[in-house]
Amino acid sequence: MAKLYVNPAMKLGKINKEVYGNFSEHLGRCIYEGLYVGEDSPIPNTKGMRNDVVNALREMKLPVLRWPGGCFADEYHWEDGIGPKESRKKMINTHWGGVLEDNSFGTHEFMELCRQIGCETYVNANVGSGTVREMSEWVEYMTFDGISPMADLRRKNGDEEPFTVNYLGVGNENWGCGGNMTPEHYANEYRRYQTYVRHYPNEKNPDKKPIYKIACGPNADDYNWTEQVMKIAGRHMNGLSLHYYTITDTWSHKGSATEFDMPTYYRTLGRASHMETLLDRHSAIMDQYDAEKRVGLIVDEWGTWFDCEPGTNPGFLYQQNTMRDAMVAALTLNIFNKHCSRVKMANIAQLVNVLQAVILTEGEKMLLTPTYHVFKMYAPHQEAQLLDSHMEAQWIGNEDGKVRKIYESASVNDAGEITVTLANLSAEEAEAMDIVLAEGSAASVTGELLTGAITAYNTFEAPETVKAEQFTGAKVTEQGVSLELPPCSVVSLCIKMK
Ligand code: AHR
Repeated sequence: MAKLYVNPAMKLGKINKEVYGNFSEHLGRCIYEGLYVGEDSPIPNTKGMRNDVVNALREMKLPVLRWPGGCFADEYHWEDGIGPKESRKKMINTHWGGVLEDNSFGTHEFMELCRQIGCETYVNANVGSGTVREMSEWVEYMTFDGISPMADLRRKNGDEEPFTVNYLGVGNENWGCGGNMTPEHYANEYRRYQTYVRHYPNEKNPDKKPIYKIACGPNADDYNWTEQVMKIAGRHMNGLSLHYYTITDTWSHKGSATEFDMPTYYRTLGRASHMETLLDRHSAIMDQYDAEKRVGLIVDEWGTWFDCEPGTNPGFLYQQNTMRDAMVAALTLNIFNKHCSRVKMANIAQLVNVLQAVILTEGEKMLLTPTYHVFKMYAPHQEAQLLDSHMEAQWIGNEDGKVRKIYESASVNDAGEITVTLANLSAEEAEAMDIVLAEGSAASVTGELLTGAITAYNTFEAPETVKAEQFTGAKVTEQGVSLELPPCSVVSLCIKMK
């Protein structure tokens, strides 16, 4: 019998809702078809945005969306994506699949999409092939309220009121596709570019916050990048990004998203759990330059990366999504929650039809992936206070993939309701568990469950093979709550206190 200790009196800091963020790039069928179909499409839409997808994202409580890339961001020139659609530049998306990019989805469309979803905006600017002037004019175009060439141009293009840019990324992967820079070179470029990310006050909105500036951070365990960029530019940034993808084998052989054996399952989870080490070690370096934890660690690309589905364009990165992906999401989100003192935002890659997507589409059809259900089940953690929780670790897996059996986190909201999220990573073994509350007594417990075989997934023919259901297996006890977690399962509990 496993024991999980939760202390309702020990609050360890706020879990930012932005930790549950997502990422949308001009890549494959993410933007075009996945999110945006155009106003003339037979697929039901509002101003070109798919109604089915927008509604599902609202229900999932998507808090923030990053756009336009990714590697695409450092090739993107924002002026190509404004003005009458028929006169927007057409170009080849050289990075992703060599397909035509007609720029019909640009700044105004992104802002409209976020408005419909009800989420914050995270715009990634171009440093690799763009200029300081181009970036600074984009900020002026989007956010200035007064009279200026860029604000006037925005008005001419149909939006009288400025947009809200909550987050701005100054370049993407500048150690790679964003310019192949050294950390020292990038850090100095960052200092220069960020100087011109102006804060334009707005008389009608006196509480308007300055844009939160995010510097390009390391690839996975490149600790030297973090060290140099923090040392040279740390005091000029609000956030530092981190990219880490879960690859089961090697970059040239990533393995199938749906056909895998048990050792591969555990290897994938073992690699996903490496996120914990990355957060600890990058945070320790950041602590040396920012002991007060003013700078957020922004994990703005994470998730599984498998071989794309057979028969699809390899440049589109379209992959299916099984219970294994759900377990990766569940363990990673629990890790993020527990690192909320430093991790201020995270954006799984990517929103629709690309990599570890929460939604897949095929023409007018849409399905919710197992990963979608995990995000929805974890939504009560958004803006809640992390609670101290602890359980004895049991290790499972095999030689090349050892991982803890259970990943958990707990939080309390303003109404005093406790959310506990649990992931039982074992493919075959259930886990009986007592949740012991260090203070107070539980009055009631309700829950949701997501479970299935490790390779289970949803198809357009059977879209509800894997879905969240009510969990009735948890009972209030004298000490707290007892329950049994099925094998390969995710459970979200809501505990109300007396
Ligand atoms: O998410 C796909 C790609 O992965 C992004 O464009 C890039 O930033 C990363 O390498």
